[in-house]
Amino acid sequence: MRILFVCLGNICRSPMAEAIMRKLVNERGLSAEYEIDSAGLIGYHEGEGSDPRMKAHAWRHGYHLTHISRPIREIDFDLFDLIVSMDDSNWDRLHRLAPTLEAEAKIVRMTDYCQTHTIDHVPDPYYGGEQGFENVIEILEDACAGLLDSLQA
Ligand code: 4NP
Repeated sequence: MRILFVCLGNICRSPMAEAIMRKLVNERGLSAEYEIDSAGLIGYHEGEGSDPRMKAHAWRHGYHLTHISRPIREIDFDLFDLIVSMDDSNWDRLHRLAPTLEAEAKIVRMTDYCQTHTIDHVPDPYYGGEQGFENVIEILEDACAGLLDSLQA
């Protein structure tokens, strides 16, 4: 199973989701079965590491963010089985980029996999305060566990 997490800048939410999912998959002994990556809808931060605020919060929760930001490419719709969007804007833009109906069918919403949160998007922490980054980690831990459960079911 190949999973691509997608957000706007690929420096906060999607690299965080990637790190959480990779840790979960490793903990469950499933790393040989999963390929996990992330990408952004804009190339503005291409080549940069994750946001230092996201990295600092991640570190406190036991995650090491090493991803380098990159924009999504059309080929990603072929290379991945599941394209996971963080909010409605991501969702709309992914649908416009998807080259085929088959590609569109791969797009899912991260929050649809939440088991303890009743929310419809992962809020963008970029222009907010420190609590926003904590909130992102809490939501993504819930959603990634739910996603892995649903894939293994
Ligand atoms: P992300 O957060 O989509 O979670 O990586 C953002 C990062 C950068 C920008 C917006 C959101 N930006 O406008 O540069």
